Amino acid sequence: MTVSEAIVKLLLTGGGTPHDDEHFMKVWGYAHAIGMSEGLTESEQLALEYAAVVHDIACPSLRKETGKCDARMQEERGGAMAREFFRGSGLPPDLTDRIVFLVSHHHTYEGVEGQDWRILIEADCIANAVEQSLPLSSVSEMYVRHFRTGTGRAVMRAVFPGLGEGEPDSGQQGLFAPILP
Ligand SMILES: [Fe+2]
Repeated sequence: MTVSEAIVKLLLTGGGTPHDDEHFMKVWGYAHAIGMSEGLTESEQLALEYAAVVHDIACPSLRKETGKCDARMQEERGGAMAREFFRGSGLPPDLTDRIVFLVSHHHTYEGVEGQDWRILIEADCIANAVEQSLPLSSVSEMYVRHFRTGTGRAVMRAVFPGLGEGEPDSGQQGLFAPILP
């Protein structure tokens, strides 16, 4: 199953609201671009992109049952749902395992290991910050706490003018730096 096939499958079978669908498409888009700019290995990039597509796979059923989409419950249920989603898809077992791990830890911010995990968190935060119209003070807290890649930090500063003011331009905007204005 390609990433595009996973996207279409989730759009057709995920049971999400239009907001759910738009959210995962945005998170996948940011994850794809930041991952490519940061030069991830092929296996990291794939794990990141598949995980970005299905990271909130548990939300529709959780919302139906509990009326909300609690972060911990998402992680607990999402991993198993992601494994089921990719069953029979032909993905290598170690890739499936990493996708399941990432879905099960996408709200876990301590002990983050691997660019795929880090960028999934960054991509989800960018989308959430915009969708929830967070005040700059909250966005700033999020930025300091979660953003580590040069590209993720540059994108966040571009999306939220005023963020990181006074922060020296590190010049670390990944492989895409030469094409930036
Ligand atoms: Fe999300």
